[in-house]
Amino acid sequence: MCQPEFQLQPELPLHFDAIEHLHEEAFGPGRFARTAFRVRESVGSLPQLSFVALNQGHLAGSVRLSPVRIGACKALLLGPLAVHPAFKHKGAGGLLMKKAIETAKNLPFCAILLVGDYDYYKRFGFERVPMGSMSLPGPVDPARLLLLPLREEVEACKGLVRADPSALG
Ligand SMILES: CC(C)(COP(=O)(O)OP(=O)(O)OC[C@H]1O[C@@H](n2cnc3c(N)ncnc32)[C@H](O)[C@@H]1OP(=O)(O)O)[C@@H](O)C(=O)NCCC(=O)NCCS
Repeated sequence: MCQPEFQLQPELPLHFDAIEHLHEEAFGPGRFARTAFRVRESVGSLPQLSFVALNQGHLAGSVRLSPVRIGACKALLLGPLAVHPAFKHKGAGGLLMKKAIETAKNLPFCAILLVGDYDYYKRFGFERVPMGSMSLPGPVDPARLLLLPLREEVEACKGLVRADPSALG
């Protein structure tokens, strides 16, 4: 069977409703209570680090990154990453992750942090955060707190994770 082709584009306002629908389907109403959501909600996502995967004009997937501080370090919080059920296991998630990571490498951030399944994200270079080196303003399963270093300054990424509106420019 033919694999679908995906077009990666920067997220635009016209994609917003379809992305909300995708998040509702993937994470349900409980998403609003998640710690990562609570960190992101005050700052939103960076337009230059928000991408959609389209298939024949339909939303197949979406990824967003938000600016955070981890201690004194400027970093990014990745999420949500979600792929529409009809397009799962066809490479859209991987394409979105690679696009987000490659773009982030050219921006002044130390690292990308996320809360997710290690078994999925390890393929992109994410490692588990050493126990006790970071804290978030709410409960997080430490086994799901994952970090991808982007710069040497990542050594300073320790302490409280909080939204960083100063990065919005
Ligand atoms: C996780 C998700 C984004 C992956 O998207 P996708 O487009 O299906 O991923 P890809 O096609 O690039 O990769 C598929 C591979 O990832 C694996 N995979 C998918 N979810 C996984 C998970 N939670 N843990 C481990 N592996 C996973 C698949 O088994 C497949 O492996 P294979 O290549 O060896 O066959 C998608 O399943 C999804 O939207 N899930 C619901 C929302 C979610 O959990 N988001 C992540 C947390 S923010």
